[in-house]
Amino acid sequence: MPILVVGGAGYIGSHTVLSLLEAEYEVVVLDNLVNSSSESLRRVQKLTGKPIDFVHGDIRDKKRLARLFHDYDVSSVIHFAGLKAVSESVQQPLEYYDNNVYGTLALCQAMQVAGVTRLIFSSSATVYGRDAPVPYQEITPRGITANPYGSSKAMVEQILEDLCRSDEGWAVALLRYFNPVGAHESGLIGEDPQGFPNNLMPVIAQVAVGRRPELAVFGNDYPTPDGTCVRDYLHVMDLAEGHLQALASLETPGVHIYNLGTGQGYSVLQMVEAFERVTGQPVPSRFTSRREGDLAAFWADPTKAQRELGWKARRSLDAMMADTWRWQCRNPQGYCSEVDRAKSFS
Ligand code: NAD
Ligand code: WQD
Repeated sequence: MPILVVGGAGYIGSHTVLSLLEAEYEVVVLDNLVNSSSESLRRVQKLTGKPIDFVHGDIRDKKRLARLFHDYDVSSVIHFAGLKAVSESVQQPLEYYDNNVYGTLALCQAMQVAGVTRLIFSSSATVYGRDAPVPYQEITPRGITANPYGSSKAMVEQILEDLCRSDEGWAVALLRYFNPVGAHESGLIGEDPQGFPNNLMPVIAQVAVGRRPELAVFGNDYPTPDGTCVRDYLHVMDLAEGHLQALASLETPGVHIYNLGTGQGYSVLQMVEAFERVTGQPVPSRFTSRREGDLAAFWADPTKAQRELGWKARRSLDAMMADTWRWQCRNPQGYCSEVDRAKSFS
């Protein structure tokens, strides 16, 4: 019985599909390629030597979902399919709620009709809001989110909790990712953001490879040791492997919430220093004003996932930097050139 991975062509999805295949799971991927290329899955097949059934489709397409659940005897679903650009969500809230919230509703309704009631959902540390005590713990209630993207994640968590309360047949794992970075050690798959990256690590890598002139450090006047923001960065392969261990939690009905982070925070300047030290590549940077909505510092308390799932992030900061750089060097323009990208999305 295959696992359905929606959004599986994306950054975290493609790394998770690789881990699933290496663990001998059968996988079918549905993805509308709004923020990815099917090249990622071609490379995962090359790396693993195992087949992936790929369905080019949208989780909001109920007819397509119904056909997929008819064609495949799906055991469980891992749900990565979401828009994730915070600033874009502020400009286009309706698109984010339609894609992330309605999309999840359509997916769950199709699952319910098909009798598939096991789901892992890609949530985010952002659901803790602005006032949660640090380190973030799962027992802390969701807070007031700072943007429509974060609100869409919090809404979906609430929907899934209500679903499990209404039907004891459902088992749902809400995985709250902190800051995934890095790439598979092969350098063949990695993070391939569209346009100007929203996140720190892709910007650092693109500056180092010469695609961007410098890194703008958003503020150095925060109440942190060096004045720059502190975050909990984890290797994307650790995050991917966490999904395999989270599958076990689906043997028990109900909602299971887990932080997936290292429990260690690093500042922006520490990330730049580590990247330059590990790669030998300079990253020209300058301080600019704060980015609206940024919090000074937060990181995970990851002990619940360690205790209940047996999961612990194990790859080092140096590995995050080395693997990021290997991917960026081998793929200066990501999976495809801008021209190819236009063709592949037409
Ligand atoms: P990504 O954009 O690389 O991957 C998302 C994938 O989902 C893409 O392949 C995209 O084409 C697909 N997709 C989006 N909307 C879809 C739809 N309606 N139908 C079908 N496919 C759709 O992003 P990612 O970094 O891999 O993140 C995966 C998930 O994890 C997202 O839900 C994101 O919100 C969440 N998350 C990411 C981070 C992070 O820092 N990357 C942190 C916390 C949570
Ligand atoms: C990290 C730090 C920036 C870029 C976001 C989303 C979160 C999740 C992960 C989806 C911050 C600084 C960044 C740059 C910089 N995504 N920075 N210059 O903001 O912790 O979380 O991505 O779920 O929901 O909010 O990560 O990588 O954007 O920023 O100085 O060009 O790097 O200010 O302090 P963040 P990030």
